[in-house]
Amino acid sequence: MNKERKLIVAGNWKMNKTVAEALLLVGELKRGAGNLQDVDIVVCPPFTALSEVANALRDSNIYLGAQNMSEHGPGAYTGEIAAEMLKELEVGYVILGHSERRQYQKESDELIAKKAQAAHAAALQPIVCVGETLAEREAGQTEKVLEGQVRGSLFGLGKEQMRRTVVAYEPVWAIGTGKTATTSQAQEAHAFIRGLLAKLFDITIARLVRIQYGGSVKPSNARELMSQPDVDGALVGGASLEAQSFTEIIQNSI
Ligand code: PGA
Repeated sequence: MNKERKLIVAGNWKMNKTVAEALLLVGELKRGAGNLQDVDIVVCPPFTALSEVANALRDSNIYLGAQNMSEHGPGAYTGEIAAEMLKELEVGYVILGHSERRQYQKESDELIAKKAQAAHAAALQPIVCVGETLAEREAGQTEKVLEGQVRGSLFGLGKEQMRRTVVAYEPVWAIGTGKTATTSQAQEAHAFIRGLLAKLFDITIARLVRIQYGGSVKPSNARELMSQPDVDGALVGGASLEAQSFTEIIQNSI
């Protein structure tokens, strides 16, 4: 697929995989997807497996991502992880504002914006997640919700930082439910987000920013979703926990 923007397919392992399991998975992934071109492949293991996975990925084409980080630099924040600690482990990307964190940890757009700024300060590329709930979609609030999240979560970023930020559109009702957005629902939301980026930054930045779709992406629906003009990759949860399905998603995306 010939797209203006390089595709980015990321696996969000969530709270899964011991170190031993993580190493098995990346070993298989390297064999299956290790020489695929034209796509940035990212795996986001839990913090506990980052160090070992970083070693295993050295000299491969697969990038390492984290699932969260603190908005603060090192200091008295028990249980938190600072951006520079991730950087030391060769982490390149960090997922911020995933809907599970918005829901369970009550992360606000304001907090996510602070984290995005801290990520850039450490030269990490944030993957900032946005998406509406089913109730919001049914109430016709999708664009309003997306606009609030995009404006709020990307607040304070400069143009160059925005260019190096990935946005993930993940309708909450599609995450882990097996229910995927239709291609037109995805394309509409992605085009809306890109239009907003043009307003908030400029048209060049909007054209360069990669917008991933997330929510029950599987080998069987990846090709159709990625064929949409504004869909530049996928953020994959469940189907990234097995090398075969994640590799097939990547293959079907390019
Ligand atoms: P899912 O999760 O692919 O299991 O729906 C996606 C995500 O939460 O990023």
